[in-house]
Amino acid sequence: MSKITDEIKKRRTFAIISHPDAGKTTLTEKFLLYGGAINQAGSVKGKATAKHAVSDWMEIEKERGISVTSSVLQFNYGGYCINILDTPGHQDFSEDTYRTLMAADSAVMVIDASKGVEAQTRKLFKVCVMRHIPIFTFINKMDREAMDTFELLDDIEKELGIATCPVNWPIGSGKAFRGVYDRNEEEIELFFDTKKGTTTGEVKKIRLDDPDVDSYMDPDQKEQLLGEIELLDGASAEFDQDLVDKGELSPVFFGSALTNFGVETFLQHFLKMTTSPLPRHSDKGDIDPMTEKDFSAFVFKIQANMNKAHRDRIAFMRICSGEFDAGMDAFHIQGGKKVRLSQPQQMMASERKMIEKAYGGDIIGIFDPGIFSIGDTITTSPEKFAYEGIPTFAPEHFARVRQVDTMKRKQFIKGINQIAQEGAIQIFQEFNTGMEEIIVGVVGVLQFDVLKYRLKNEYGVDIILETLPYEHIRWIENEEIDMDRLTGTSDMKKIKDLKERPLLLFVHEWSIRMTLERNEGLKLSEFGRS
Ligand code: G4P
Repeated sequence: MSKITDEIKKRRTFAIISHPDAGKTTLTEKFLLYGGAINQAGSVKGKATAKHAVSDWMEIEKERGISVTSSVLQFNYGGYCINILDTPGHQDFSEDTYRTLMAADSAVMVIDASKGVEAQTRKLFKVCVMRHIPIFTFINKMDREAMDTFELLDDIEKELGIATCPVNWPIGSGKAFRGVYDRNEEEIELFFDTKKGTTTGEVKKIRLDDPDVDSYMDPDQKEQLLGEIELLDGASAEFDQDLVDKGELSPVFFGSALTNFGVETFLQHFLKMTTSPLPRHSDKGDIDPMTEKDFSAFVFKIQANMNKAHRDRIAFMRICSGEFDAGMDAFHIQGGKKVRLSQPQQMMASERKMIEKAYGGDIIGIFDPGIFSIGDTITTSPEKFAYEGIPTFAPEHFARVRQVDTMKRKQFIKGINQIAQEGAIQIFQEFNTGMEEIIVGVVGVLQFDVLKYRLKNEYGVDIILETLPYEHIRWIENEEIDMDRLTGTSDMKKIKDLKERPLLLFVHEWSIRMTLERNEGLKLSEFGRS
């Protein structure tokens, strides 16, 4: 038992979120460099290696410059075993990010110092705040001209409604970027050549009151730093680990992932401030990885056809307690059956590798013969508890979908159902017709593109998408209601989900109220149940 708890205590499982191009991949790569997992930076994702991406449909990511899938990386550093969860970098995939965050104990938000919080990522970052997990901010690209540091912090606080606490402070930016000032240690960390970020480079620590400081920065820069520190000490929130744990205060770090400046400092501080795997809610109370000896995990992501050659389906699970052994049997709570967890794998950038053992805090991908759903619990505990489910977001965009070639009906239905099971889209039908008309709902419009692309590339089906004007969806809670007699507004449409549950679509928000007024006793809900 103690070996298992020791292993779990070492785990640090976090997600990295960022706007596309802010430097998430570069930062991850530098973490691997410091962790000794790669010898030279540039081997995870240079433009040259990008061709060997995990799946062919990642081409859409390359074409559009966005990341649609998530993957997991594991490496060791300073006695910790680190699991990094990658997330899509566009807010149209914020639901996917939310699911990934469910599997993480904390999040790192990478922000481009010249841009601040960008419009496309606002929603994405907000889902991070919604999860109430610790959020750490890394302000990247300090080697380029940056926005005013105070303005950057203000931007984060205003946009995300979370307080910030700079742990260090940048000394200059662009060509004048010298290093960072550690507020706690009251010392300056000066960075030297890292051969364009390919090596860890030399870091010199020097106290601010050391006269030697003057040989490393010009008098103006020093004066500005002193002024900023004074202002900062008076104005910014004090570091408070409790508030960090609740996700109400974000520790902020500055650096440049490209040149490695500030990366290791950030990693070291972050690992101390973030948490080891925490207890999770279940229907039998909280399950604590430090006391629960049996294996338990929940599925947070399902993905089919990651590898075109195999056409397999992988269920990604976050292990919450105990030890995992390859090929072990466990009970699938929602399926009510024992299952063998076979072909366990972990991702290492673009490669997958088979694993033998894993522990609470780790993420594994298991071969899924089509039995798992997002949110499902798998455990060897005789208690048979189920972890709290993962909410689905209400779709905001709708389209009618048809296949071009009517002969391909079977592939079309199979493909669209599988993609829906992954949670990438939600499918509905007209209330009074059969499967002829399929209505697809998505949280972000880019998901329509992914659907189109995947149906063509993975199932050989071309589709026509006809966008519908609806923006609001409501599930009818009192299902006994007579749908034929329900009277709504002219912009309302009656549909049903795959479980035959009735729903309503509306163009205008005010129509929801009018419909409620016209139909006494009608109860509507914004959230679907799985
Ligand atoms: P992402 O995963 O968040 O989308 O960003 P990624 O790391 O791929 O970085 C996007 C671009 O920004 C890359 O340039 C990368 O080299 C650059 N970059 C990352 N961190 C820094 C930094 O600290 N300073 C500067 N100046 N640039 C940084 P690219 O030209 O698109 O790609 P590449 O040809 O350099 O690989």
